[in-house]
Amino acid sequence: MKVNGTHYRTVWMPERGIVRIIDQRRLPWAFEVINLKSVAEVAHAIRDMAVRGAGCIGATAGYGMALAAIEAQSEAQLVALAQSLIETRPTAVNLAWAVNRQLNVLRNQPLETWQSIAKREAEAIADEDAAACAQIGVQGLQLIRQIAAQKPGEVVNVLTHCNAGWLAFVDHGSATAPIYAAHDAGIQIHVWVDETRPRNQGARLTAWELAQHGVPHTVIADNTGGHLMQHGQVDLVITGADRVTRNGDVANKIGTYLKALAAKDNGVPFYVALPSSTFDWSITDGVKNIPIEQRGGEEVTWMEGTDANGAPHHVRVVPAASPVANYAFDVTPARLVTALITEKGVVPATEAALAGRF
Ligand code: MRU
Repeated sequence: MKVNGTHYRTVWMPERGIVRIIDQRRLPWAFEVINLKSVAEVAHAIRDMAVRGAGCIGATAGYGMALAAIEAQSEAQLVALAQSLIETRPTAVNLAWAVNRQLNVLRNQPLETWQSIAKREAEAIADEDAAACAQIGVQGLQLIRQIAAQKPGEVVNVLTHCNAGWLAFVDHGSATAPIYAAHDAGIQIHVWVDETRPRNQGARLTAWELAQHGVPHTVIADNTGGHLMQHGQVDLVITGADRVTRNGDVANKIGTYLKALAAKDNGVPFYVALPSSTFDWSITDGVKNIPIEQRGGEEVTWMEGTDANGAPHHVRVVPAASPVANYAFDVTPARLVTALITEKGVVPATEAALAGRF
């Protein structure tokens, strides 16, 4: 994706021993690229959400393992470094998937070959993520085309939650890939962007991305979606996912479940876009079995923004004496999901359909 005319990926390795990322903590107030030079720095960047989003943290962890291959002097050390990466964030399965993929290719190989093997595998993980998201765009475009054909001359309104855009992956995004593809194909498209409290990934990141690409959009408070659906102002919902179970239950940013309920009540199609690295084939029943990350309360009690002069500020929005809870994700049961948009096509969210396709 382009930022001010220059093509960027969210994470890359410009030279041996350096992982480069776009610092998402600073967006949209500042666009900054930073270097990570050790596994500890990569782990901190993931934990502190300098990088975030399922595909992006998976690819970053893949590159983190390329640094681990430089730092480790034994298989035990390599496994310990891998574990330190896996522990940074529990819900998005792409993270553990990428780290384990690296461990699998490195195990039983001579230590002197680790660096080149791990770098190659990290590049493959990142390339595959970008290619899968591009393909999700191709698949999702067909759905948007069908809806556009039913309302010729009118705008297609998509609602999205959180940021499942290119910042959340290596490129293109999952939920945004069909949107970018439709916009580029000349379909009149408009996006309702949920602000996505507490961290405001929608207001800060998705809105910034869409503006960079010139896609018409409107940021709305999180509670607005139901009202818009009741008044025919949402043609479809597309969200991303952090983990999808074998039977199609979807873990995604907190608040996704409520949007799915509203969509069901109003007959609005509810799609979830994901690359196959986001499936967790080992579990069913996402409500019971997907670990839900609880993040620091300061995300709820404090907000970031700028003043009228563009100077960044951090302000408290909750009384100091009030306790808060901060569940980062929720699970939308498969019965509320119209279909999953994957790189292998648009698939019903059922165990049988997923088994057939994957
Ligand atoms: O806590 P985050 O920002 O890492 O949350 C993950 C997300 O961005 C969303 O849940 C997103 O919709 C899916 S990740 C592609």
